[in-house]
Amino acid sequence: MIRRRIRTARGTGAIGDDPAKKANGRGKLLAHISDAHFGAHDATIAAALVEELNALAPTLVAFSGDFTQRGRVAQFQAAKLWLEQLKSPWLAVPGNHDIPLFDVATRFMWPRDRYQFHIAEELEPCFLDDGLAVCGLDTTNTKALKGGRVTHAQAARAAIRFSAHPHKWRVLVAHHPFVVPVGHEADRVEGADAALPILEAAGVDVILTGHLHVASVAGRNEAHTMLAVQAGTCISTRLRGEPNGYNHLRFDDDVLTVVHRVWDGGRFVDGDSKSYRRRGPVGESGRFVKIAELAGATAAAVTRS
Ligand SMILES: [Fe+2]
Ligand SMILES: [Fe+2]
Repeated sequence: MIRRRIRTARGTGAIGDDPAKKANGRGKLLAHISDAHFGAHDATIAAALVEELNALAPTLVAFSGDFTQRGRVAQFQAAKLWLEQLKSPWLAVPGNHDIPLFDVATRFMWPRDRYQFHIAEELEPCFLDDGLAVCGLDTTNTKALKGGRVTHAQAARAAIRFSAHPHKWRVLVAHHPFVVPVGHEADRVEGADAALPILEAAGVDVILTGHLHVASVAGRNEAHTMLAVQAGTCISTRLRGEPNGYNHLRFDDDVLTVVHRVWDGGRFVDGDSKSYRRRGPVGESGRFVKIAELAGATAAAVTRS
């Protein structure tokens, strides 16, 4: 069997064997993880998450940044040890917390060196298989304290990559959100207005982001030309009004179901979920239609406690 490989932190991830295909028929399963903040993390939840992911065996684990709390070497080492336990292929992009904040020389001279040494040399990696094209985009900006930026060149580069795969689900992974829930407008990535039409024209279906520590799923606009999925913080203690969690994205032909998995104090359980059918042409209004929405009673109970 020919085994294609993608480059990850310290080696490779095999794509040829697709455990999710075996477990879920024709479907693909993507686990979307974000904002671990090693150094300000819960070790119990970290262990539970890696155990759950290894039992789940998703097609891909996509990590949308903020591996560390302050970009310190020991924090990157802890993140690397955790990543090395994952059995599935994974792909990652850095977040603003992965750029050292207080070590000024490192921050401005070699801002991404620690991330590239410990996590992944490639800052904008791609994962391809027979149904998915998943590409990362590095939105970190050393000139801003925590805000992100996407340039025209980055959007164009991503568009070229996605355009080569018109028959696959096209998923962009970045740290800073391009589409934000109400109340988080200040955290929207700089350059989003210019980048979104480029990505839309390239057929990007879904943008996966983090940074807010708040989970959500929404259309990029009222016309639902593409979907924006936010993951909360998977294992960190930096909670913002909701429990730790991450997302499952299940792809079955032209239906995508996003399930928030939330930590109930002892394990991860299903929270809210939404299903969308992809039906329209690239870039056109009504490309995605919501066909189901389930409230996560357990998630609500956790949030209130
Ligand atoms: Fe974060
Ligand atoms: Fe962040």
